[in-house]
Amino acid sequence: MQRKLTRSNEHFHKAISKLPLGVTSNFRYWGDDRTIYVKRAKGGRLWDIDDNEYVDYRLGYGPAILGYADPRVDEAARQGQEIGGVFALSTEREYEVAKRISSMVPAAELVRFSNSGTEAVMAALRLARAFTGKDSHIVVEGGYHGIFDSVLWYVDIEQWGDTDEPPIEAGCDGIPQVLKPLTHFTPLNDADYLEHLLKKYGKDVGAFLIEPIMGNCCSITATAEYLRDARALCERYGVIMIVDEVKTGFRVAKGGVQELFGFKADLCTFAKAMGNGYPISALGGREDIMRIIGDRVIHGGTYTCHSVSLAAAQKTLEILDETDALETIATYGRRLRDGLGSILKSRGIPHCFVGHPSMSGLFFSETPPSNYRDWVDTDYTFYDTMAPHLHDLGVLCEPDSREPWFICEAHDESCLTHTLKAFEKAVDITLDELDDEPLRAQAAH
Ligand SMILES: Cc1ncc(COP(=O)(O)O)c(C=O)c1O
Repeated sequence: MQRKLTRSNEHFHKAISKLPLGVTSNFRYWGDDRTIYVKRAKGGRLWDIDDNEYVDYRLGYGPAILGYADPRVDEAARQGQEIGGVFALSTEREYEVAKRISSMVPAAELVRFSNSGTEAVMAALRLARAFTGKDSHIVVEGGYHGIFDSVLWYVDIEQWGDTDEPPIEAGCDGIPQVLKPLTHFTPLNDADYLEHLLKKYGKDVGAFLIEPIMGNCCSITATAEYLRDARALCERYGVIMIVDEVKTGFRVAKGGVQELFGFKADLCTFAKAMGNGYPISALGGREDIMRIIGDRVIHGGTYTCHSVSLAAAQKTLEILDETDALETIATYGRRLRDGLGSILKSRGIPHCFVGHPSMSGLFFSETPPSNYRDWVDTDYTFYDTMAPHLHDLGVLCEPDSREPWFICEAHDESCLTHTLKAFEKAVDITLDELDDEPLRAQAAH
């Protein structure tokens, strides 16, 4: 059963005349006849311009943690509008929100606000370079840290020949090749390899950039032991540990992955969940590092701390900090895993869920992946085939299997019932389509 996308298709042909790919982010283009345009969204649901209704597990890649158009946050945002916007001056509220962040995330001794995750990570890297006087950084394979030149590189594991280290490629054209020698990659959960890199390049490496639950790579998760070792190595080699919590921050725990695993970053970055969708991000960190902002390092921007976004962030953080919203989210996430898992299990499909229940990766193997190389080695045909069927059946997951399924506080019983029904159908359609004999044989036992 296929959805009607008549209006979305028509709009796509109009939009493409004025907008590259007909959209405003490359990732929003899903093909000429499958790109959808949104009419509205509310709670855990979204409607496209053809009036197709979806239970949404993308949530804009995570921001809508309380649900779309949350009345408590929107009311605060309206009050923020009364203040007037941006002034190239500061307001008292910035201090209040910074204080809340510091109390939730102790590593964020001082805070600076920006508009997007990209800007926060960009500021963190600059600060680390300035503080250490070292220009290179080490980043975890398979991670995504935004759209700026220094981090838009990837390791091409599939093309790796007999060289010591896998080849590093630019994420797209236009990224200056002169930046390439500044980036080194390490697989997650391999402290020996990290140490090997630090021994080899350590005198030039100012930062180690890590997202301990990889929100752009199936939620593959660092072990507590690895984080402890990496933390110690950063100290030994004089490297700033930047923990990118753009997706995990205020989601996997009030204090993010740092609370979950019991460690402290030198610098950490937040965005997404902190404003329930209003554009705001934050860089937090050790006071001695953060104090060089304003002394030797420039940080700012015309739109930083817009009064609407700041008021929305204040309310969102208050709710996340003072209510049981995160428990509600994790409970739904666990029930979703149980439901999806029993459907897959009953059909003999090997799988496991990865990461935190509030942002689950679905991995098609019984053993959870420990790094990006495990993901590259896994067959994702099943997921790739199933995702469009889920869309047709009213469940909006990311077509890219690396993206986790995000949960919000507004996902309710009716969302879960709908999702499980649709998932069961989509799995069966996919099995028929792939005519998967080994899976069918397994299922018969
Ligand atoms: C871990 C991480 N860091 C940084 C970014 C960049 O954030 P933004 O898209 O707000 O620039 C993202 C975006 O998905 C992310 O997931």
